[in-house]
This record gives sequence, C-alpha cells and structure tokens, in this order.
Amino acid sequence: MKLSRRETLFALAGLGLAGKAQPGFAAPASLGAIAAEQGLLFGTSIASDTLADPAQAALYRREARIFTVDYAMKFGFLRPTADSFQPGEADAILAFARASAIPVRGHTLAWNESRPDWLMALSTAEMRAALDRHIDETVGYFAGQLHSWDVVNEPFWPGHRLPGHFRDGPWLDAFGEDYVTRAFKRTAAADPAARLVLNEAMTEAWTEDGALIRKSLLGLVDRLQHDGARLDAVGLQGHLLPQKPHDDAAFADFVAELATRKIDIYITELDVDDTVFPDDIGARDAAVAEHYRQFLTAVLAVPAVKMVITWQLADSASWYDHAAREADPDATRLPRPLPFDAHFAPKPAHGAMSAAFTARRPA
Ligand code: XIL
Repeated sequence: MKLSRRETLFALAGLGLAGKAQPGFAAPASLGAIAAEQGLLFGTSIASDTLADPAQAALYRREARIFTVDYAMKFGFLRPTADSFQPGEADAILAFARASAIPVRGHTLAWNESRPDWLMALSTAEMRAALDRHIDETVGYFAGQLHSWDVVNEPFWPGHRLPGHFRDGPWLDAFGEDYVTRAFKRTAAADPAARLVLNEAMTEAWTEDGALIRKSLLGLVDRLQHDGARLDAVGLQGHLLPQKPHDDAAFADFVAELATRKIDIYITELDVDDTVFPDDIGARDAAVAEHYRQFLTAVLAVPAVKMVITWQLADSASWYDHAAREADPDATRLPRPLPFDAHFAPKPAHGAMSAAFTARRPA
C-alpha cells in the first residue's frame, strides 16, 4: 500500500512521531490554519513558562491564531499586595505574541475566585474602591494591546446557595449583583477597542447545577443589555467532563439561544478531563478525541461560534497535569486532556479537532 504524503503525515501523527523533527517531513497543517479556512479563530491559553521552552513556544506560535493569558492577568497575580502591580509576565506574553502578530485575550478582571488575603481583609468601601481601581488601572495599562477581555469570569455557582445562583466572593459582597454591569461599563470606558466578554463554566454539564447556570447566564445577558452595558461575546469555557451527564445537541440549542441576543460565542477554555477513561494510552487518547469530535461538531453548527480556544495545547502544560503532580509527585498516570502530548507531538485529539473544523458547515 502506498501512502500519500498527507496520509503518511497523519499516520506519523497517530504514532506520535510527526511533531518531532523528521527530516524531509513537514508538520501537519496547524489547527489555526485549518480553523481559519472555515472562518473560525483557533487558539490556546498561554503562560510564561511556555516561553521558557523554545520547542513549546514554537508549537504555540505555529498552532494558534489567538492567545488567552492563562493566569498572568488574574487579580491575585497582578496584585500580590495592596499596592503592587506586577504585569511583567503578561508583558512578556504580549511581546511574544506581538512578534508573530497573534492577538491576545485578557483573562480576567472580576473573578470572585482570585482573591488575595489582603483584599479579603478590606472594608466594603475599600473593596469597592479596589475593584474600580483594578479595572481602571489594569485595563488602562493594557489598553490598545488586547483583542478582548473576559471582564467577568464565572459569575454563577449554585453550590453557594445565594439568590440568583451567583458565585460568592469579594465583588458580589462589595457591590451585590451590580458588580457585573459596573465591571463592563468601566472596562468599556478604559479600553473602547477591546471586545467585552462574559465568561462562564459548567454550561456544558447536563446536571441540575448546569441547568441553573445556563438559565442564570441567559438572564444576565438580558440584564446587561437592558442596563446598556456593551457585551460583545459570551465565553463558554468548555472544560469537558465526560464523567458528568452531557448532551451535545441540547448544548448546541442553548448556544443558539444565547446567540439570539446578537452576541458572538467563544469557546474559551476547551479541554477534556480523561479521569474516567482507561489507563491504556491508546484507548484513552481515542476516547478523548471522540469527545472533542462530538462536542465540536455539535457546537460548530451554530454560526455565532467564532472562536475555539483550548486551555493550553500540550498535555504537560495542562492545569490537570499540574494538579496531578501536585497531588502526587510520583504519579504514573498523568492526564492527557489536550491535542498535543508532552513531547509536542499531535495526538488523536488533534485529528478529531481538525476533522470537526473542516466539516463545519459554512455559515
Ligand atoms: C486555572 C489556571 O490554568 C491555573 O494555572 C490556576 O492555578 C487556576 O486557574 N477556569 C478558568 C481559568 O476560568 O482561569 C482556570 O485557570 C481554569 C478554570
């Protein structure tokens, strides 16, 4: 049997060989290039340790057409103490992206989970001033350099049992539910060019909490629009959890309903938790790939979905990898949630993603 050059590349990809330098072989087309052919923007989150490894930096530059700053712009990272502001790592990511003309998304301004101890010790009045100052200074500092801001991240968490299912934390305490509108209006004022995004987790889960989050999110979009705040897109994280009930077709219906609000939809943090899949790497990678394929095929049928971003590209850079190593430094089964392995070779998930991108029906 004679394989074409393309088939050879994909066979190599399947063997995990194509990502390594193979004299005479070009790497398979990048996910960014394949997505772009269907008018879709593909990218990844990025951290400063990505840049420390030249091979990893090259992978990210090759595959992505947009980056999200993984943690270097979070409140607690930028402001470890009340009067410090440390944008150095974010600046390094912006410089790297600028050199390749890759746009960057800011993540995130008002997230109730990024709350350093010094913030929690403030009075209500001081907390209010801290959010206003954080937005004015941070958005002002990066103004003109960002494609978009995840202005508010994860507004809902039914587990906190609060009215409206809002997530508990400093910003809700300080302003009540109005912190959301306030954050959007201040961000728009400080960087009129950045697109403003409301980002949420767990909308993909077909659980009671998932249903409450979806309903609450629709209500919040309506409220922001009613309040006259500019909202350009809703980000749906897409940390897929195969162990929870899920329904890709029904999720696509929810995405279509969101899109009737005349906003774009971004998939902002895609990855697949492989905990419940077999230890065997071949079987596990196949199951992860199939999960990506089904989710993306359903969601990309909605024309408002303009962007797909994975939460890192290589398994070794995943937050799941870091959490597993932290829990057990000698762990032998490490998570494989992403399209590239720890040696930066494409996995079956890469093939599944490119197939789903290619098959997207034209809008
Ligand atoms: C994660 C980062 O990747 C980790 O490095 C950090 O320790 C914790 O947060 N949803 C989000 C992201 O919106 O900000 C989270 O990122 C992953 C879940």
